[in-house]
Amino acid sequence: MADFEAVLKVSDLPPGEVAKVEVGLTPVIVGNVNGSYFAVGNTCPHAELPMIEDRGELDGEVVECEYHGSQFDMTTGGVVNGPAVLAVQQFAVKVEGDDILVGPA
Ligand code: FES
Repeated sequence: MADFEAVLKVSDLPPGEVAKVEVGLTPVIVGNVNGSYFAVGNTCPHAELPMIEDRGELDGEVVECEYHGSQFDMTTGGVVNGPAVLAVQQFAVKVEGDDILVGPA
């Protein structure tokens, strides 16, 4: 994943929300943490299942896997609560105009 790719409009992702997108062939979660945008892989390191199916809500900066409840910090990718023990992959994010772009891990 060498280049940034526009995945969402700023207006489509209010603060406190996450959305699943595809960047190339990679499933990624984009989250709006109090007006700042972060992206992590949508494949949960616990059982390699998708953390969210479509849309969801953050608890502060924390996103929760829909399967077994592992929680990850969107701003770092780190585990907040298990059962997962490994962090999720983080991706670079930038905003250009009304576009949210996701780039390299
Ligand atoms: S697959 Fe995410 S917590 Fe189990």
